[in-house]
Amino acid sequence: MTQNALNTIRARAPGTRPRVAVILGSGWGGLTQHIANPVRIPYAELEGFPQATVEGHTGELCLGRIGQQEVAVMSGRKHGYETGAVDGMKVPLQVLKALGCAVLVQTNAAGSLREQMLPGSLMLLSDHINFSQRSPLVGESGSARFVSMVNAYDAELRAHAKQAAQQRGITLHEGVYAWFFGPQFETPAEIRMSIQLGADAVGMSTVPETIYARYLQMRVLAFSLITNMAAGLSNEQLSHTHTLSQAEAAGEMASGFLAEVVRSLQLLPS
Ligand code: HPA
Repeated sequence: MTQNALNTIRARAPGTRPRVAVILGSGWGGLTQHIANPVRIPYAELEGFPQATVEGHTGELCLGRIGQQEVAVMSGRKHGYETGAVDGMKVPLQVLKALGCAVLVQTNAAGSLREQMLPGSLMLLSDHINFSQRSPLVGESGSARFVSMVNAYDAELRAHAKQAAQQRGITLHEGVYAWFFGPQFETPAEIRMSIQLGADAVGMSTVPETIYARYLQMRVLAFSLITNMAAGLSNEQLSHTHTLSQAEAAGEMASGFLAEVVRSLQLLPS
């Protein structure tokens, strides 16, 4: 599967050698507008890529450049809650790695657990809590599967992101992302528990990809776009429609910032 998808990509975008891969979650789709000379390949043409089913995720791989940075950008991901399986992004990540990507930048929409982190703001992930207790590494053999999750969200890349935010005058919160499996939203009791246990935001994605990317020895950077206060922390009604409308409202700021982070990543030694 991986080889077939690779062959398709190399045929459609000859000579492509991206160093940075990006996965776009809800609200972050505007990043693709910052890509020069894009080659767009629908997931339907890529064996082993997810056939996206979630509203707000288009299902397309886009190759091109942001500034001088060659990138491979995935619009849409497979979520565990779609089928129960958490290995839906394994083949795409293997393909991105084989294309030459050393860095994976992840994005998502998330609920806030902190009073001062309001909808429309951005959070840099410093770490995560795998409340779902699921792993895409189940079934792998050998000692490589025992992956260290210390510094899973690369400290040097985080420092770079903070600097980019400062230069743009953007407030970038930093905190711990808790992965709930979904698709239902959390209960207020689960949110109170998460706050007590040290989480700052909640969402239904990202963590399996981080685990698998670390297994592949890619460096990971991840951002949440806060779309709502988590369950029980405000009077707003939680729904996917609400998530998408909030994500859209802040989307341009988020994707402009992301484009700048990706573009200037090339200043870092590889
Ligand atoms: N919970 C889980 N996932 C989410 C939320 C939330 O409150 N907001 C956006 N994605």
